[in-house]
Amino acid sequence: MTAGTKKQESEEKQKNLEIKIREGREEDIEKIVLIEFSSFESPWSRNLLIRSIKKKELFVAELNGEVVGYIVFSKILDEVHLENIAVDERWRRKGIGSKLLEFLIEKNKESSIFLEVRPSNTPAINLYKKYGFKKIGIRKKYYVNEDAIIMMRNPENIQPD
Ligand code: COA
Repeated sequence: MTAGTKKQESEEKQKNLEIKIREGREEDIEKIVLIEFSSFESPWSRNLLIRSIKKKELFVAELNGEVVGYIVFSKILDEVHLENIAVDERWRRKGIGSKLLEFLIEKNKESSIFLEVRPSNTPAINLYKKYGFKKIGIRKKYYVNEDAIIMMRNPENIQPD
């Protein structure tokens, strides 16, 4: 499947949803914290999330004025690190995670993107693979009870396996 087809497919899912991606604001924090704490067994603290907003590294997906997901990433020189991504449980599997990832890729077309993911996190791994991320290594004991898979997407490497 080509990157174009994937985009069309995710646009298809998103077309009835008016999803807007915008910079996170401090008034979004309550909803972001709710999503974070219901999505992860070791969630980021409220302070860390606020810090990401202040650093303009957190972007939210908004649906009918409601925050339904977010993505956090940092950039050092031409290397981008995807730090966090989550979608409100009630709104998963509707293309919102894809939309957030497409936003990140579009914004950083010239950069390699790196991330860590738990080997047990099938939904996230599938999402990343769909957008051309490849496994490049393992980070031992990155999480308390689990290693991390390191994945990378080259700017020119847009074909899935
Ligand atoms: N099982 C298997 N694959 C899944 C999946 C699931 N439950 N959910 C998503 N995917 C994969 C599929 O490949 C899917 O494409 P498809 O629907 O054409 O099969 C692709 O991801 C895109 O799905 P999308 O609807 O755009 O994703 P989403 O809005 O549900 O968001 C996550 C995906 C990972 C952000 C969401 O599951 C989430 O918030 N999880 C908890 C937080 C988390 O684990 N974040 C990642 C940390 S590394």
